[in-house]
Amino acid sequence: MPSPRCPSSAPRYEREAPHAPFISEYKNLVWDDGDIHAQLMFVGEAPGADEDEQGKPFVGRAGQLLNKMITAMGLSRESVYIANVLKVRPPGNATPTTDEIDASRPFLFEQIKIVRPKVIVALGLPASRCLLHTSDSMASLRARFHDLELESGLVIPVMPTYHPAYLLRSYTPENRKKVWEDLQMAMSNLTPA
Ligand code: URA
Repeated sequence: MPSPRCPSSAPRYEREAPHAPFISEYKNLVWDDGDIHAQLMFVGEAPGADEDEQGKPFVGRAGQLLNKMITAMGLSRESVYIANVLKVRPPGNATPTTDEIDASRPFLFEQIKIVRPKVIVALGLPASRCLLHTSDSMASLRARFHDLELESGLVIPVMPTYHPAYLLRSYTPENRKKVWEDLQMAMSNLTPA
């Protein structure tokens, strides 16, 4: 059953998607950005107002910081692949619930199956929990790789790290150092171009 919160003007695939019950008023489905053949994939939480407006992930303030992080890694935004757990802006921009994450997981896993990245950086706890089926804290998850095994048997290393929005709120040298260490570890899994 389509959710009453999902606009009736939305295309049928959106109205009948498993995550439809969680959809609030939104403008655009925010699917992805970047290269579908990328070695490096970033997974964020959910679109915010700017992303909803433009239909692209990470285009607001957190996105600008993510762009800087990508540049610092010696890469371009066009050469990586970026997606979110939730494909539409959540009601009230709230942190995704476990139900929302569970309902959205199949969409994200389809994207991962298509891209087959060499490494995934999970930005923040909702993305890390979605990918790794864990309720552990970021402090215990970050700074090491976790195996994500796809149905095909392909194992993709996942590096959890703090979300750029968290970093913006808490822009301390210590937090920046932690994120940079995580990103450098992720880079060590990439094959130089
Ligand atoms: N935060 C996210 O997690 N994703 C976006 O696309 C934007 C902000």
